[in-house]
Amino acid sequence: MSAPEALRIALLASEVTPLSKTGGLADVAGALAKVLTGEGHDVRVFTPAYASVDRAAARAVPVPGLAPLTVRVGSHRYPCALLKGVLPGGAPVYLIDCPELYGRASLYTADADEHRRFLAFTRAALEAVRALRFSPQVVHCNDWHTAFAPLFLRTGYAAYPCLRDARTLLTIHNIGYQGVFAAADLPDLDLAPGEVKLLHQDDLAAGHINPLRQGILYATAINTVSPTHALEICTPAYGMGLDDSLRARRADLTGILNGVDYEEWDPRHDRVIPEHFDPDHLGVKADLKRQFLARLGLAGRDGRPLAGIVSRLAAQKGIELIAGALPAILTARDLTFVALGAGEPQYEAMFRALQRDFPDRVHFERGYDDALAHWIEAASDMFLMPSRYEPCGLNQMYSLRYGTAPVVRRTGGLADSVVHFDPGSGTGTGVVFNDFDVPALTWAVNTALDWYAQPALWERLTRNAMAQDFSWTHQGGEYVALYRRLASRA
Ligand code: ADP
Ligand code: GLC
Repeated sequence: MSAPEALRIALLASEVTPLSKTGGLADVAGALAKVLTGEGHDVRVFTPAYASVDRAAARAVPVPGLAPLTVRVGSHRYPCALLKGVLPGGAPVYLIDCPELYGRASLYTADADEHRRFLAFTRAALEAVRALRFSPQVVHCNDWHTAFAPLFLRTGYAAYPCLRDARTLLTIHNIGYQGVFAAADLPDLDLAPGEVKLLHQDDLAAGHINPLRQGILYATAINTVSPTHALEICTPAYGMGLDDSLRARRADLTGILNGVDYEEWDPRHDRVIPEHFDPDHLGVKADLKRQFLARLGLAGRDGRPLAGIVSRLAAQKGIELIAGALPAILTARDLTFVALGAGEPQYEAMFRALQRDFPDRVHFERGYDDALAHWIEAASDMFLMPSRYEPCGLNQMYSLRYGTAPVVRRTGGLADSVVHFDPGSGTGTGVVFNDFDVPALTWAVNTALDWYAQPALWERLTRNAMAQDFSWTHQGGEYVALYRRLASRA
């Protein structure tokens, strides 16, 4: 049998590990590129050259012989250089270098030209594909930032021979962010007069343009990052106003659970923690916890259960449930809590208040700190994810690998990756609760604490968790199968 044909994929992502990251999209883009490259596919990643990108580490240099691109967005002209670097695992990464657009203090902004920053990125990526004489079978867009690519490929870019046959996949990592901008900025789309009808007319009449909806309307196929979330987003409760458009495309909508890059997230060889462990050396985990607590100034609490969280502090993540549940739990029971996160001020204030009220048992680290995230995964006994919605979630899967019991709400990828433990049969990997309210989270944390108090039971749960395998070798195969279906579609 001959080897299956290698695929040609253009992967457009607004963040990619290890160059830029605010959340799971970066990890997924980086890991998917790595696994596809490892399997011999020609995957090329396109991403903005933000000011924070370490160009030397990415070995990013201007593509030889390529003239700078000028990207047009309405009446604006953006000179862009194209840099080529390499990602861990060998995938080529093309960085769109335009300091005017990407030389800002953060990856995403609330600036008035935010939509133009990503329209320009999408266009620059398509221009780069042409300049490189690449002819991808699939242009894989991710989230609202690149969701206009399917429409652009049907309009202005349809004439480019290298893109004429490209199919598009839109992956929705987070439906809570849609990139909506004012209809007054319609000229920024550079549509011909006859093409304006391709925009969602009700949105337009309501005075706005919704990039994510446009992607849903025109991508050849759509997926989100777990099977449960693919069902959820077709309902008004989870569709964030896009459920009607998603229901209309149900036949082309699938859910593919994210994988984990175990080269990065595995206690057997984690590059951050000083000692390594596996299910047969759980004493090392206890030792790491002791070191970690001492470092946080909580020495002496190592015999007690430690709960952790690492999160963007956004409405999605259910921080108010933690703030609502923990005071009573901390008063009644002997728990230590460590939180790492940054985001909306009201959630930061909640964690600060918790630390103020329980100074010897709660530690809140405000900010983004990859090394600390690894420490929390390794040293904690349980990991809290009471999300309002969670398309996939990566930290619960990291937690499983580190023998850190995930305490999660039954939604999206949390429902698809954590199985509620049954003390009777000894099966299950964490604590799963249903309702988005304080009593439900209180029940879940107390349940975890009750099991923790029974060492044999807890060891069983821990071992079950560590035995789970969410590697990309498996999940990547689902993307390959989907790409092949798209590529063969007439
Ligand atoms: P989301 O993409 O919604 O933020 P995920 O669980 O998919 O949620 O991915 C979050 C990723 O970002 C994880 O790798 C997590 O460790 C990381 N992360 C989030 N906040 C921080 C932080 N403050 N410091 C370090 N890493 C963080
Ligand atoms: C998101 C989602 C998260 C998912 C990540 C990567 O931002 O909130 O659940 O794991 O994207 O797909």
